[in-house]
Amino acid sequence: MRNLRRTIRVRHLVPVGLVLAVAVGGLLVSLSAGASTRARTVPSGSQALAATPPPIRYVGNFTSSQVREGQLLFEANCSSCHGDRAQGAVGPNLQGLGPATVDFWVSTGRMPLADASVQATQKPPRFNGQQATAIAAFVASLAPTGQGFPSGIPHVDTRNASLAMGNRLFVLNCAACHTITGAGDALAAGAYAPSLHVATPTQVAEAIRTGPGNMPVFGSGTLSDAQVADIVAYVTGPIQHPNNRGGLGLGGIGPVAEGFVALLIGVGGIMLIAFWLGERA
Ligand code: HEC
Ligand code: HEC
Repeated sequence: MRNLRRTIRVRHLVPVGLVLAVAVGGLLVSLSAGASTRARTVPSGSQALAATPPPIRYVGNFTSSQVREGQLLFEANCSSCHGDRAQGAVGPNLQGLGPATVDFWVSTGRMPLADASVQATQKPPRFNGQQATAIAAFVASLAPTGQGFPSGIPHVDTRNASLAMGNRLFVLNCAACHTITGAGDALAAGAYAPSLHVATPTQVAEAIRTGPGNMPVFGSGTLSDAQVADIVAYVTGPIQHPNNRGGLGLGGIGPVAEGFVALLIGVGGIMLIAFWLGERA
């Protein structure tokens, strides 16, 4: 009789021990993941001070052959809606919008437009980067870039960018429309803020500085070039490559906590049921 009671007690201790082991393991994994996230996001002081290259280079000088190539492409693909000299027709006047605006709309595939009645969407671009630059060069050659528009196509250097700062600035300035994960969301009056999952660093900076469609313009008085580079690093890093989708990438704090609970209740619960079934058999 006493022997029997002891076996039962030992048998009950095994599942409880296993659940505890799972709990401790989960805790260790989540702690180490948190630690590695912190290590990655906090830039060291010396690194930040040694910032010699500017965070963004605005390239607005184009060769005459770029302008000529752009003119041919513009006449064949754009002038039917925007006019021979981009002065506007069905589509808006493009003179003075600057090369970054034109490069953004062409390189994201928004232009050329097929249907002028709906919001232009991101789609596979018809032109490669060199052609988009040429079209931008041609339009820029027609009129001086207007006040408030970037002087050239932004090339972003994110080597000294801070992901922690980028995250904070993204939450403050972008998440209201694009959502916290960058998945995009509907806005008022049939408009929508698109997903940020395919934009290149240049396109993110162009969107920030030129404010396409219903998006506000964030000028250099609102966000410095260094802050734009922080946001670009955050969007093209953690937003576009979240390391917590399935598998073992437990980098994010929220998913770690959730995964930990799922592990404890899910795996722990299943083990308890399995032991209970085994005991009855
Ligand atoms: C079918 C007509 C059509 C064609 C073809 C077309 N566009 Fe457009 N474009 C429009 C319309 C309409 C808008 C305004 C759309 C919007 O705001 O969503 C626009 C907007 C733009 C804008 C943004 C203007 C602004 O105020 O921000 C740019 C830049 C642009 N087009 C460049 C081009 C270029 C370059 C081409 C050729 C590669 C092109 N478009 C071809 C109709 C067209
Ligand atoms: C008021 C809402 C709003 C806010 C705030 C906003 N956006 Fe946008 N964003 C939009 C809309 C709307 C578009 C699409 C414009 C269009 O196509 O006509 C857009 C387009 C974009 C695109 C182009 C995506 C693609 O691949 O085509 C990028 C990149 C972008 N936004 C980044 C940002 C960033 C970064 C911030 C914060 C600094 C931000 N946006 C803040 C509304 C917003």
